[in-house]
Amino acid sequence: MTDLRPRPDLWSLDPDVLHLNHGSFGAVPRRTQELLATLRAETEANPMRWFRSVAERLAVSRLELARFLRTDPAGFALVPNASAGVTAALATIPIRPGSRIVLTNHTYGAVLFAAERFARAFQAEVVVVDVPLEADDDAVVAAIGAELDERTAALVVDQISSATAMVFPIRRLVEVCDGIPVIVDGAHAPALLDAPAQDGADFWTGNFHKWPAAPRATAGLVVAEKWRSTTLPLIVSWSENDERLPERFDMVGTADYAPWIAAPESLRVLDELDWPVRRAQLSTLIDEAAQVVAKALGTDLPDVVHPAATMRLVELPFADDRSPSAGEAFKARVSRELKAEITLTAFDQRVFVRLSAHAYNSARDYELLAERLPTLL
Ligand SMILES: Cc1ncc(COP(=O)(O)O)c(C=O)c1O
Repeated sequence: MTDLRPRPDLWSLDPDVLHLNHGSFGAVPRRTQELLATLRAETEANPMRWFRSVAERLAVSRLELARFLRTDPAGFALVPNASAGVTAALATIPIRPGSRIVLTNHTYGAVLFAAERFARAFQAEVVVVDVPLEADDDAVVAAIGAELDERTAALVVDQISSATAMVFPIRRLVEVCDGIPVIVDGAHAPALLDAPAQDGADFWTGNFHKWPAAPRATAGLVVAEKWRSTTLPLIVSWSENDERLPERFDMVGTADYAPWIAAPESLRVLDELDWPVRRAQLSTLIDEAAQVVAKALGTDLPDVVHPAATMRLVELPFADDRSPSAGEAFKARVSRELKAEITLTAFDQRVFVRLSAHAYNSARDYELLAERLPTLL
């Protein structure tokens, strides 16, 4: 299997554990952790001085994060996570009684809950479009396009889905929406796609605490010009009446702003890893890894047409119990008995291990998983 000089030394991950699920909660490099600790020490040395300095530091950080996404900084706001980004977008668009919020069967569960909350509040309806796992771009656009009409309040669509690690054709979906507001859930997109917020959507949100390995609770919300004056942070605070979108989202009450200020340090780590080259190598690695694990389990790899650069699904030959609690119990056993951290996803009555690869992973990690996992089945 491909090996690519893994760099676990840049992280503080427990070397006795196989870390195969970067996709869920990321992992923060040592350097960023150290900066975070320094910033927190500064806070505790003089909280008053720290909070006086926050606005200026956030402005610097925002510019670096927006540059990384290759997006206009005037439309880029900081939010704690993609869930907050989607919620803020749903709170902005007009939702009329009888209208429909369209999403897909790949939509992240919490995002579905958000759409349901807004639909309930405005007597609207949530429509879930079935998009097969093996759909190509034409099939994705046709399936979603068929559900759009004058009743559609918004399309909420993943850029890279969580359960299926599949890349959706956002630019084409924006075109087919033809003026219907599009909210893109790009939770996994930063660092996996080069310019994820440039497809013309009305709202895009994505996490820096996943693939860019920033401290947790660091995410971005990119808002198209027409919505910038009406998009509000979920917490009402002193910047409520600021006319500028990014500044309006900066100070949302007393909070821990250190992660947002430290986040660009992780982008520098990616830079030093020569990230675009590394990401291509990780794609090869995770392709091979998925085959090795599938062979060991005696299952097939689903034919995802555009898989995420660094995530792959391997089907589990699971028994009858496909409930979330059985999945949680299985992951806990894998952690305890195999010393491996994996995640499971479910789609269309099938259960998958969703494997991740980041710069700290090596081919050996997946070979060990392939040796150990069949012992639990
Ligand atoms: C597609 C997708 N959307 C939204 C989220 C929610 O992200 P967060 O928990 O950072 O809000 C996730 C998290 O994994 C995700 O994968």
